[in-house]
Amino acid sequence: MANIGIFFGTDTGKTRKIAKMIHKKLSDMADAPVNINRATLEDFLSYPVLLLGTPTLGDGQLPGCDAGCESESWLEFADMLASANLQGKTIALFGLGDQQGYPDNFASGLKALYDIVTDCGASVVGEWPNDGYEFNASAALVEDKFVGLVIDQDNQYDLTEERVDNWLAQIKPAIM
Ligand SMILES: Cc1cc2nc3c(=O)[nH]c(=O)nc-3n(C[C@H](O)[C@H](O)[C@H](O)COP(=O)(O)O)c2cc1C
Repeated sequence: MANIGIFFGTDTGKTRKIAKMIHKKLSDMADAPVNINRATLEDFLSYPVLLLGTPTLGDGQLPGCDAGCESESWLEFADMLASANLQGKTIALFGLGDQQGYPDNFASGLKALYDIVTDCGASVVGEWPNDGYEFNASAALVEDKFVGLVIDQDNQYDLTEERVDNWLAQIKPAIM
């Protein structure tokens, strides 16, 4: 087992694609990405370092049945996590959103995931500047930075790989 676990939620597969890209770039430092709807709490808790990905769905929500997904996802896993202790874990977050379609709630689901893991005691690394995106509002901004990497496959897919590379270079000292 590698030190780094990658878990993602997805509705239409874009977040899975980014999770796979991140895995490929980390090679044997990380295990293969797992859809959170198939993860057990035991598996999740077995990693000291976690990279967690989510799209934003509904109205700035995490994916899950209440957000209109066909299968369970982060919303349901969050119920299991509520009583977990994540103290000592290092977590970095990546989130997908659509800045043109949802400019008033861009990638806001990332903040919901941030709140869930920090409430359980985790340290979150990998904040990300909001330069290069155009939107009106996002709950994922804390002191003007996103709480994790933000990817927009709907409008800026050509910037994705460079963003992933820069973010991984930034977080590597904290996750290795
Ligand atoms: C019903 C629906 C609601 C969405 N709501 C938001 C939103 O509130 N904010 C946002 O930034 N993107 C929103 N999106 C865009 C998705 O987050 C984006 O397309 C993402 O890349 C989908 O990732 P996935 O393929 O992993 O599900 C929404 C998409 C759908 C279909």
